[in-house]
Amino acid sequence: MKKLKVGIVGCGGIANGKHLPALKQIEEVEFAAFCDIIKDRADKANKEYADGKAFVTEDYRELIKRELDAVFVCTPNCSHCEISVAALNAGKHVMCEKPMAMNYAEAQKMIEARDKSGKLLTIGYQNRYRSDAVYLKKECDKGNLGEIYVATAHAIRRRAVPTWGVFLDEEKQGGGPLIDIGTHALDLALFMMNNYEPLYACGSVYHKLNNDKETANAFGEWDPEKFTVEDSAFGFVVMKNGATVKVDSSWALNITDVREAAVTLCGTKAGATIKRGEKLELNGVKNNAQYIETPDFSAGGVAFFDGKAQSSGDAEARTFVNAVLGKGKLYVLPEQAAVVTRILEGIYTSAKTGKPYYFD
Ligand SMILES: NC(=O)c1ccc[n+]([C@@H]2O[C@H](COP(=O)([O-])OP(=O)(O)OC[C@H]3O[C@@H](n4cnc5c(N)ncnc54)[C@H](O)[C@@H]3O)[C@@H](O)[C@H]2O)c1
Repeated sequence: MKKLKVGIVGCGGIANGKHLPALKQIEEVEFAAFCDIIKDRADKANKEYADGKAFVTEDYRELIKRELDAVFVCTPNCSHCEISVAALNAGKHVMCEKPMAMNYAEAQKMIEARDKSGKLLTIGYQNRYRSDAVYLKKECDKGNLGEIYVATAHAIRRRAVPTWGVFLDEEKQGGGPLIDIGTHALDLALFMMNNYEPLYACGSVYHKLNNDKETANAFGEWDPEKFTVEDSAFGFVVMKNGATVKVDSSWALNITDVREAAVTLCGTKAGATIKRGEKLELNGVKNNAQYIETPDFSAGGVAFFDGKAQSSGDAEARTFVNAVLGKGKLYVLPEQAAVVTRILEGIYTSAKTGKPYYFD
């Protein structure tokens, strides 16, 4: 069996929480190299996932010189473009974490490098693989919602500001909740609508709760000095075909309707909304009555199995590996992720200038 040699750049939260455990289950995968600027993290991953036999470095440029098939880019947002482009130029397939890049210009550079190299490039939008998202995508593609002309991308937390790593650092991340979790929700909205042509965006960005103390934050108290990104951001996007996409994003907001990586879609034939906990509701009018349907993604009563054979992270890894092995297609295309990044940039720019931001 051909082994796929994989290198991981950035051995922090998302590498350990998603990619490493998912890839470990795939027998075609061999962990061949680990890189982190904090060497202990790369060493730890090497021990846990490669019995200490993989190459370890603090410099990604050394990693991409190795004989590898694919590189996973799991570093802060500011380095996604640089490392992905370098890995593609070195002839590696690339799985890059979300958001694709800090801005659209960077995203375009990544696509150019992909084109030049002839290798694959995909982005870590694992929410697309969830049961509710897969079901909803089929409903949309079958036309069961009709023309989807209004959507909301939901990325709202009450108090769950990520306090590890560099999430609060504007320079390293390019923004707060909008670029961090708004990106997942907007990706889902555009994917369901199959609409990647924005006309203009308006945005508001808030730094209202950054200085709060005793925050009841899910990830522990934050340091106000370091909290340079926004705590909430909201966008209103008009697409070229006249459809509207609202983007709600917050890490800290006084509200009870919390949901993340979720969408609401309103079509001419039916509507759909993902509630908290990946619960999907379809709505409309049937037999002259209003209805709400909630598909059941459980196992139908099997006590030892909850019906989710694969986590979304596992499905993402399997899809990427299959594509690299020539046994399937990518599910998340960089061209789609680039438009998500472009719209987020438009919302931020509009908030800065106080004017609508026109694309093109
Ligand atoms: N798909 C998801 O749902 C999801 C969830 C969390 C994070 N992420 C994304 O993953 C990325 C990393 O987030 P995280 O939570 O793992 O952060 P983290 O801080 O836990 O891990 C990042 C790691 O990268 C290392 N690093 C930084 N710069 C580096 C460089 N130039 N070369 C090598 N290593 C470097 C850091 O030392 C750290 O260990 C971010 O872009 C984030 O948006 C995605």
